Amino acid sequence: MTTNVDLDKAATEAVTKKLNSLLADFHIIYGHLHALHWNLEGRQFFTVHRELETMYQGIAGRIDDMAERILSLGNRPATTFKEYLETSSLEELPSRKYDAGEAATLVLSDLDHQIAAVRDLIATAGEHDDEGTADFGVEMLREFEKQRWFWSAFSG
Ligand SMILES: [Fe+2]
Repeated sequence: MTTNVDLDKAATEAVTKKLNSLLADFHIIYGHLHALHWNLEGRQFFTVHRELETMYQGIAGRIDDMAERILSLGNRPATTFKEYLETSSLEELPSRKYDAGEAATLVLSDLDHQIAAVRDLIATAGEHDDEGTADFGVEMLREFEKQRWFWSAFSG
């Protein structure tokens, strides 16, 4: 059986599993970025507060791209927070005060997770000849690697 993208159904299901796993992670990370954006305190507030907003807007865009890629593959994206929490290995962040140093450590830890998960997506897409998803993954990988450099430079 073939789909919109002329890939085997089993191939699209294997890739969709990885995409849905990233979709779950990105929802948790979207929450992390808000927890930090809202609760940040300290002398670097203005810069970091603004940068966190740019990042959560970026992740929101990626969430939509990911869900639409799953639909292009002929499958369905997960839509409930229950599924996201069950699927992702990431924990939510509590609403409390964070300083810029702690925010940077948490963002870097999420970026390491994102980079590893996207590499895994690219590998799975490659194994199944899904160049469209692999290319989407490579584009995200470049963005996250650049963000990792920014935050690591900020941390000194
Ligand atoms: Fe805001």
